[in-house]
Amino acid sequence: MRTIIEPFRIKSVEPLTYTSREEREGYLEAAGYNLFLIEARHILIDLLTDSGTSAMSTEQWAAVMRGDESYAGSESFYRLRRVVDGLMGFRHVIPTHQGRAAERILFSVLCKPGHIVPNNTHFDTTRANIEFTGAQAVDLPLPEAADTQARIPFKGNMDVNALDRLIRENGCERVPLVMITVTNNSGGGQPVSMANIQAVREITRRYGIPLYLDACRFAENAWFIRQNEEGYGELSPKEIAQRMFRLADGCTFSAKKDAFANIGGLLCTNDDKLAELEKDLLILTEGFPTYGGLAGRDLDAIAVGLEEILQPEYLEYRIASTAYLGRHIADHGVPIVEPPGGHAIYIDAGRMLPHIPKHQFPGQALAVELYRHAGVRSVEIGSVMFGDKARHELLRLAIPRRVYTQSHIDYLVEAILEVNERKASLRGLEIVQEPPFLRHFSARFRER
Ligand code: F0G
Repeated sequence: MRTIIEPFRIKSVEPLTYTSREEREGYLEAAGYNLFLIEARHILIDLLTDSGTSAMSTEQWAAVMRGDESYAGSESFYRLRRVVDGLMGFRHVIPTHQGRAAERILFSVLCKPGHIVPNNTHFDTTRANIEFTGAQAVDLPLPEAADTQARIPFKGNMDVNALDRLIRENGCERVPLVMITVTNNSGGGQPVSMANIQAVREITRRYGIPLYLDACRFAENAWFIRQNEEGYGELSPKEIAQRMFRLADGCTFSAKKDAFANIGGLLCTNDDKLAELEKDLLILTEGFPTYGGLAGRDLDAIAVGLEEILQPEYLEYRIASTAYLGRHIADHGVPIVEPPGGHAIYIDAGRMLPHIPKHQFPGQALAVELYRHAGVRSVEIGSVMFGDKARHELLRLAIPRRVYTQSHIDYLVEAILEVNERKASLRGLEIVQEPPFLRHFSARFRER
């Protein structure tokens, strides 16, 4: 059979709420044209993020009931540990309440002013947590990735020559760790090849620098390797993921992505001394090292999710359904970041709306119009989010895991193509009120 189906059936449903165009117009005005400020019940299809928005399975809900809420030594922790040991194989596994908590602890222990932390592309919380310590976060994506239209298979790779140069020019003592983000979220959800991780491993080994994975979407990355990298087609996603983790000295992980959990994270390391320092900090703000800011039931949900996420049928469906959305809009003239990524499709709004200049936020204008037209929530990743540092004006459509069916996606395709047909009529926005940092969460706009 050629048809790829959702590899689940639905036992419990959450009704959608419909709104009229007039109502949405009112909500937009009240929210200052910022979709973060619209109540979720006024959204029909919510593609703001794939983080914490997954549908948990019957087995995960059953595991929630088994959660052991003991303060110390919870059985839930040991169940999670066994799964993480079998998959990631790091000596120390520290639960945290979400990914950024793991980042904060790791960077607080390793980084100080004058340090530089390279990454293929830092996610915004990773960058912010590094900069908070006084260190500098540097992105080293492939130069070819600057072209949103270039169709190269592992567009999320790190530029290894640039990494080598950066370490030589600054000295290895200034680089406390190197990170690779799989998949490369800010770079378009693009995967990183095993060969690239190996090449970075070689360089870091030569200089004695630890290599960490920001492993949020490790399973999607493993599937891309299986599909597109020579020599991996016969391995299971789990075997590929194990090989990825084996190349690293540690990882940060947000269980809100590739563990189907609604909350949770992990900080893992092979370094005994570092783990002690990390656990001391953990106790200060997250909790005892066998729960790290989570309930026992959350640890159990993550343990089950980490196994489910690696099922080949799920990953095949996941990557194919994201590509389905991407191809159906791109083949009808909507410019997307090519090729389609794992967890999201990124529309190149700068290219789609050339009549709206950067400072009038084409990505935000498109986000607003898509909500007004069809009740769909997406997120701008461009000048609203990054100011002058934005490399592109993108609109991200992130797909929650196991939540929407193909007909939801067909509705979305129709909505986007309808907006595309009258794109010349879309107007830019101006900011009327903004906070001093992370302005995309609360800024207010006016239509021009
Ligand atoms: N690293 C990457 C690559 C991420 O995409 C995220 C979160 C984090 C770290 C932080 O994890 O949210 O658990 O603290 N990304 C979400 C998104 C928020 O919408 O892309 P967290």
